Amino acid sequence: MRSHLLLGATALLLPSVTLAAEAFTGSPDPDGKYWIHGEGIAAAFVPYGASISNLIINDQYGIERDIVTGFDNASYYHIDKQHPHFGGVPGRYANRIKNSTFKIDGESYHIIPNENPTESHPQGLNTLHGGPDGWDWRDFNVTAYTANSITFSIVDPDGKEGFPGEVVSYITYSLGNLTWDATMIAIATTKKTPIMLSSHTYWNLDGFANNQTNLALDHELWMPYSGQRVAVDNILIPTGEILSNPEGSVNDFWSKPKRIGDGFKQEGIEGNCGFNCTGYDNCWLVNRPQAHNWRSPDSLVARLHSPWSGIQLDIFSNQEAFQMYSCNFQDGTMALKSTQGLFDEPKFPRTIPKYGCVVLEVQDYIDGINHPEWGRQSKQIFEPAGDPYVLQVRHKFSIA
Ligand SMILES: *[C@@H]1O[C@H](CO)[C@@H](O)[C@H](O)[C@H]1NC(C)=O
Ligand SMILES: *[C@@H]1O[C@H](CO)[C@@H](O)[C@H](O)[C@H]1NC(C)=O
Ligand SMILES: *[C@@H]1O[C@H](CO)[C@@H](O)[C@H](O)[C@H]1NC(C)=O
Ligand SMILES: *[C@@H]1O[C@H](CO)[C@@H](O)[C@H](O)[C@H]1NC(C)=O
Ligand SMILES: *[C@@H]1O[C@H](CO)[C@@H](O)[C@H](O)[C@H]1NC(C)=O
Ligand SMILES: *[C@@H]1O[C@H](CO)[C@@H](O)[C@H](O)[C@H]1NC(C)=O
Repeated sequence: MRSHLLLGATALLLPSVTLAAEAFTGSPDPDGKYWIHGEGIAAAFVPYGASISNLIINDQYGIERDIVTGFDNASYYHIDKQHPHFGGVPGRYANRIKNSTFKIDGESYHIIPNENPTESHPQGLNTLHGGPDGWDWRDFNVTAYTANSITFSIVDPDGKEGFPGEVVSYITYSLGNLTWDATMIAIATTKKTPIMLSSHTYWNLDGFANNQTNLALDHELWMPYSGQRVAVDNILIPTGEILSNPEGSVNDFWSKPKRIGDGFKQEGIEGNCGFNCTGYDNCWLVNRPQAHNWRSPDSLVARLHSPWSGIQLDIFSNQEAFQMYSCNFQDGTMALKSTQGLFDEPKFPRTIPKYGCVVLEVQDYIDGINHPEWGRQSKQIFEPAGDPYVLQVRHKFSIA
């Protein structure tokens, strides 16, 4: 067995079996997961939403940690009712679309709403992550699989969820020397349509094994180019305004790395993520020079670091916005995977608590299709024989 750390063992250390690559078989493991291996890193993926389900690296003591949320097997992704978008690719348009409406060339399109239901709008006031049957509710096809990479594909039919035209997309993940790369290509084959993708990965850089806290509030975050953010109303729909994050304010993560928990002590954290919500669920802009080389070390979009595990994640991307969500709506009802948590003492429940994780999403300006004044059309509207949609992101891991 390649992928299984001891289940419920009372040992102090998890047995070290996952990082070691076995001979590549070209098939998923008995849990339906597709494992790939790099130098000092292993990851597993499932066709459901082209989701990452496990990401294993050593912490500062050489102990393997599984630092993303997910489920123990591919079949459970279909069974789970909460659908927190664990590790998937939201599409064809990530994040929120105001009033489930947009216009292209003067023509209005109405897509299916799926968030914020009210009496007069029982389905919802807006669309989140591509609709009630968005991409991360569907099984992608596996079109290529090697020892260190996997490519998923989806054909999203004309009219699905109300979007115009067919979209064909390929999602490739690969592992290198302590790196996880993703390339997402999408092509509008028949009509002009909006496309915006992301990777909706939930991180706990301690693998939920921190014996001091099961929260991720000790994680430090730095977003050096994110002095501005998208203003939203109380259901997180952009108002059109772009706000600045003054140095030392609650949404300032640019001036220096800041513990996410320190932000919770700052004025303005209440209601910062919408009505009656305390925490973060915000879209920051990534204000680098337009002609930047996104791979260069000085192009860092975000750095997340946990002092306990020592694990540091650096994110590089060609995308110009970045959403961070502090797991405000986790409520302790979602089980940890068998590869996560403390095994030697029942100090914390084996579930994900509120504020126990951090979601980091590279993307474009949210709801840019409804804000032509932002000038995002060429990044968000695609047409047959035009440029393809291309998202690239590198996750680079180190011990710091
Ligand atoms: C699949 O995973 C779920 C959740 O992680 C778990 O409850 C269930 O027992 C697993 N099923 C099998 C057959 O392993
Ligand atoms: C909101 O959506 C409704 C129903 O799809 C539509 O009739 C209305 O024109 C939209 N409002 C705006 C301001 O776009
Ligand atoms: C997977 O491939 C099959 C066979 O070509 C196709 O019918 C199906 O629509 C594809 N699935 C997706 C999600 O595109
Ligand atoms: C991985 O990178 C480290 C430092 O960045 C280097 O020392 C090491 O040789 C690399 N390993 C491989 C197998 O390339
Ligand atoms: C907590 O975890 C750290 C790091 O693994 C370890 O050094 C320490 O002994 C643990 N403390 C307790 C009380 O288990
Ligand atoms: C605000 O949220 C808390 C839980 O965080 C909940 O108990 C309370 O009912 C909510 N209040 C309103 C007015 O929705």
